Amino acid sequence: MSTILGIDIGGSGIKANLVDTATGELRAERFKLPTPDPSLPQEVAAVVGKMVEHFQYQGPVGCTFPAIVKDGVTLSAANVHKSWIGCRAAELFGSVTGQQVLVVNDADAAGVAEVAFGAARERSGVVVILTLGTGIGSAVFLDGRLLPNTEFGHLQFAGHESVEDWAAASVKDTENLSWAAWASRLDAFLQHLDKVLSPDLIVLGGGVSRKWEKWAHGLTVDVEVVPAALRNEAGIVGAAVLAARHFAPDG
Ligand code: BGC
Repeated sequence: MSTILGIDIGGSGIKANLVDTATGELRAERFKLPTPDPSLPQEVAAVVGKMVEHFQYQGPVGCTFPAIVKDGVTLSAANVHKSWIGCRAAELFGSVTGQQVLVVNDADAAGVAEVAFGAARERSGVVVILTLGTGIGSAVFLDGRLLPNTEFGHLQFAGHESVEDWAAASVKDTENLSWAAWASRLDAFLQHLDKVLSPDLIVLGGGVSRKWEKWAHGLTVDVEVVPAALRNEAGIVGAAVLAARHFAPDG
């Protein structure tokens, strides 16, 4: 059972694909639908149901969500509707789809994909992966093993309650910052993470990682920093890999 449906729930879109969890390869055309607005649990679950129907899929499903997720329950809601706090998301998606669904944090899933198949492949030591989008997601690995739900985007920094309100990629647009101005904010945050974690590698993902040459030269932090390799599909791939490990640990 190595082909598993991965679903990536984001603030603006929900996308899915079949993933070969042994190789990370995508097995079909990606299917994407807009995230309902407001992003209420029932409405989002209905879209998750459509994803499963679209692929006529039966089997375990891996699904990301942009929040703290413990035992299938979403425990925060920074960029989604507040009614997700305390929502039994895995149960809800399971009842709508009729399949077993593992729900995981989106950045953790993206990180798992980068460690398994991407920019952090075969890297030992402490690896930090940040996803730069509407918010800042984080995933931390020690010798390839995930420390889940780190939420570095919600560290207080530079006078902000959450550093993502100051340094996420979306802030570049909302505040009309130049690449250099935005990169210097990100750099200050990376320096802070270096001070407290001494990572061996930092991987930066999210849409801005595709424009790496426009801003990466603005980073001065004394750590190896590389762009994510899987880009857009990392969440889908990581969710499927985590579901494979969770539901069929020997298969
Ligand atoms: C959420 C995280 C998520 C990140 C990226 C943050 O606002 O709290 O759980 O990983 O955004 O989507």
